[in-house]
Amino acid sequence: MEKFVITGGTPLHGTVTISGAKNAAVAIVAATILCDEPCVLENVPEISDITICMKILRSMGAIVKRVTDNTYYFDTRCITETKVPYELARLMRASTYFLGTLLGRFHDACVAMPGGCDLGDRPIDQHLKAFTSLGAKHDLHNGEVHCYADELIGSQVYFDMNTVGGTINAIMAAVKAKGLTIIENAAKEPHIVDLANFLNSMGADIRGAGTDVIKIRGVSFLKGITYGIIPDQIEAGTYMVAAAATKGDVIIKNVIPKHLESITAKLRKIGVTVIENDESVEVRVDGPLIKTNIKTMPHPGFPTDMQPQFSTLLTLAEGTSVITDDIFDNRFKYVSELRRMGADISVDGTVAVIQGKGALQGAPVQATDLRAGAALIIAGLAASGVTEVENIHFVERGYENIDKKLEGIGAAIKRVVVADVDVDQMRMSG
Ligand code: EPU
Repeated sequence: MEKFVITGGTPLHGTVTISGAKNAAVAIVAATILCDEPCVLENVPEISDITICMKILRSMGAIVKRVTDNTYYFDTRCITETKVPYELARLMRASTYFLGTLLGRFHDACVAMPGGCDLGDRPIDQHLKAFTSLGAKHDLHNGEVHCYADELIGSQVYFDMNTVGGTINAIMAAVKAKGLTIIENAAKEPHIVDLANFLNSMGADIRGAGTDVIKIRGVSFLKGITYGIIPDQIEAGTYMVAAAATKGDVIIKNVIPKHLESITAKLRKIGVTVIENDESVEVRVDGPLIKTNIKTMPHPGFPTDMQPQFSTLLTLAEGTSVITDDIFDNRFKYVSELRRMGADISVDGTVAVIQGKGALQGAPVQATDLRAGAALIIAGLAASGVTEVENIHFVERGYENIDKKLEGIGAAIKRVVVADVDVDQMRMSG
């Protein structure tokens, strides 16, 4: 196991380049199963969730080869197995995407139910509801969900709530179903649009991705293509907050500024200067940080995946900020770690009240999930003294080379080996 040792207090300066989007990549890599010819993906982030996706594909018989940095070749024609090994599935929430892709191609899929995770209860009832609408049945046996159908027939899918994973799984199951599927109350996140663009480039007929009604006319063949994954909105947002928290001046490259609008708007409200260019944003602090309130919402609202980073930033502002995050029921687990660094935050259910004090002090802390880990790294960069962030395997699920990228913009961050802990501590997130 490793930890990050951060000596804080240095403003970040320079340019950092954003990698491909984790939440698009986990869906698109799983969706290669639907492709009837080999395909190539570019801008694939080198993160552990993607390594797990590739191991799952290989375990089922697919050929996955690294072409160059961040570019991979996939040939899934040779898949013979429709069951995702439990040991791999349990490591990653996005393994549920293999239900949609395997069902879509083979009409048969078996994946371990996502178990105890970091953000509270995360059921998949809406995913299963979508599959049922298309004519599939499912059984739960030995902790695994088995979905199967003689054929999948296009239908109307109505989601009871905004669900990113449910929308992605419904698209993947419907893309080769017979006839027209209409998904209503669909999620609108950029990664859903990216998945639809990938599938459409291969010959799928998906319209409306990015709105709350998605129409999919099933096709029988998807051709091989080369496709580049969009930049990671949350990774970009994390570096934007790191620049602000350290009162630095950083240019964040390879971004789609439109995807960052809700993050940019909040940073500006906090008193941070954000300059948007075509494919980059510059973030700098010219004055004091100002308290604000935040409520997380599905896209295009403020993303729950940026809540811990912004809460950390608001501990550095003067005054009281209120954060409401009810997308998941337990996304404030990192707060007790931030308190160790001197933060004054009280949490009542899905609401956190931050009494900003303008400063944090270094301390040993533990990441409790992916974005919590990012928030604690930001806290360490802004704090006086030394912060040690443990459980960095959570951070590595979604941030490519975060220590090297931060070092490149002036952070004093070192990766240090610590004694091994039980692998069962690896819980799901993402
Ligand atoms: N929900 C249900 N039933 C379902 C599906 C969802 O009750 O069948 C509930 C969830 O429990 C949650 C809410 O609906 O309370 C929203 O869940 P959603 O399905 O939208 O989330 P997800 O697909 O599990 C993805 C991202 C998360 C991100 C959320 C919200 C991936 C792999 N994960 O999760 O990303 O927080 O959408 O935007 O795309 C992260 O990257 O750190 C991360 C956690």
